[in-house]
Amino acid sequence: MYVNSRKQNHTKEYGDFQTPSVLAEEVIKNLKGKGISPSSILEPTCGTGAFILVAAENFPDVKKIYGFDINKKYLAILRKNIVKLKKRQMVTLENTDFFQKNWKEFLSQLAKPILIIGNLPWITSSTQGLINGKNLPKKSNIHGFKGLDSLTGKSNFDISEWMILQLLGAMNESTGTLAMLCKVSVARKIFEYIHTHDLPVSSYTIHRIDALTHFEASIDACLLTCIITKGYTTKEAHFFPSLNAPKPSSTLGIIDKLIINDMSTFRETQFLHGKFSVSWRSGVKHDAAQIMILKKDEDSFINGLNKRVIVEDTYLYPHLKSTDLVHNRVDGTHRWLIVPQKSVGEDTKQIRKIAPKTWDYLYRNRALLDNRKSSIYKGKPSFSVFGVGHYTFTNWKIGISGLHKHLNFVFIGPIQNKPVVLDDTSYLLPMESKEEALFFYSLLTHPIASKFLNSIIYWNAKRPISQKILRQLNIPKITQKISLKYILETVESLNIGFDEQKLEGLYQKYT
Ligand SMILES: C[S@@+](CC[C@H](N)C(=O)[O-])C[C@H]1O[C@@H](n2cnc3c(N)ncnc32)[C@H](O)[C@@H]1O
Repeated sequence: MYVNSRKQNHTKEYGDFQTPSVLAEEVIKNLKGKGISPSSILEPTCGTGAFILVAAENFPDVKKIYGFDINKKYLAILRKNIVKLKKRQMVTLENTDFFQKNWKEFLSQLAKPILIIGNLPWITSSTQGLINGKNLPKKSNIHGFKGLDSLTGKSNFDISEWMILQLLGAMNESTGTLAMLCKVSVARKIFEYIHTHDLPVSSYTIHRIDALTHFEASIDACLLTCIITKGYTTKEAHFFPSLNAPKPSSTLGIIDKLIINDMSTFRETQFLHGKFSVSWRSGVKHDAAQIMILKKDEDSFINGLNKRVIVEDTYLYPHLKSTDLVHNRVDGTHRWLIVPQKSVGEDTKQIRKIAPKTWDYLYRNRALLDNRKSSIYKGKPSFSVFGVGHYTFTNWKIGISGLHKHLNFVFIGPIQNKPVVLDDTSYLLPMESKEEALFFYSLLTHPIASKFLNSIIYWNAKRPISQKILRQLNIPKITQKISLKYILETVESLNIGFDEQKLEGLYQKYT
């Protein structure tokens, strides 16, 4: 058992998924189809060398092939297999740690054009942290790499992303191609980086691969290919559904620092792009579900520790989660959230006077609340929460889940005369009145809104819908495409009483 888990951790730490030769062959065929014919090849983490073996037999102009890996055993296996190659003298293998190598200096000595090919370790920095792994770039390097923090998020990043950026940076003065298997999410971030830093990449393609078949891993993976030509940066990335697909299924672009997933659909609906004066907000973040969420049990409440709780009504609000929103369960709830603040950082001492039982309950459970891991709670008043403001307490809202792969906007009204609060995996648009909420609900559920948002959303992302994406849609502009009749019919289908004149007034105001 111990040996097994040690082996598993070793595999994890080194992100070790050896490429099967059948996939290496498909990749090389794809590159040859793109007209790539290198003089030098580098496989920076070659493992048992599927790419080296296939490339050596398939690129007639290649003079030198270099393979590096941290694992000596893999290099020994590869050495045995290289003996069978006709052009074995051109292959040089070296036991090297990627993080120790001066790639710029190394690449500058190679005959051009260069092909950097391979499949880098599949591991994130946070998983390295969890398994106590050391296979990471030095901290100073991460921060020294221009713009990387903003690209990867400070706390977590894919090691392969960091490595690809290093290699691209080192290639800056050379011509050639970088072709790597990686996560689609990594390929998207690299595209964004190339775009914002004007790296000399003249063609950028992403071909999805079937990682389940080739690596027995359910990862959204691809072959990323960058053709490096001095003085030109492409503004588009072509996305192909497979390695042998003849045509791209979509073209990615970047508009206002945001990756657009499908530029042609985006252009068709571009008139909707812009800022709306009402901002999308996220739900309440508290990181203490056991204490803050209470379930109604007849006349009393039970907390997540299965304890009966007696608190005043003052700070309690009906609570909906993103799963409720995606399933349209918005008319009632048995879950109530204690929201101790009306705005971020508000003093909580007043609770003692206003609602002594609530204070007593929170105070008794302060150890759990004080020990919340996230640093955002440090130095804030006791029992603090985030994602609170005027918008949290409006009676009328439009909500959507950020987690689910479904664009389902819901109309949310008060429950038991109290405004509904959402969890922090949901987003909301705060509305001033019932009619305003109904009006914007009918616009947001129109197919043109879905078309626009679908052109931006990357549905395979962990959290596909974000505040940043929702804020791209200038909702009132949708009225250019729809009639008042459509709005009235949509609202009527909800079977909620409303003031027709007020809706007409809103239509006039926003058209
Ligand atoms: C995903 S596997 C791919 C291997 C090979 N490129 C292929 O396509 O089959 C990643 C490889 O990276 C190697 N590796 C991990 N960390 C490394 C490091 N710091 N320096 C060099 N090689 C490393 C592992 O030993 C492993 O062979």
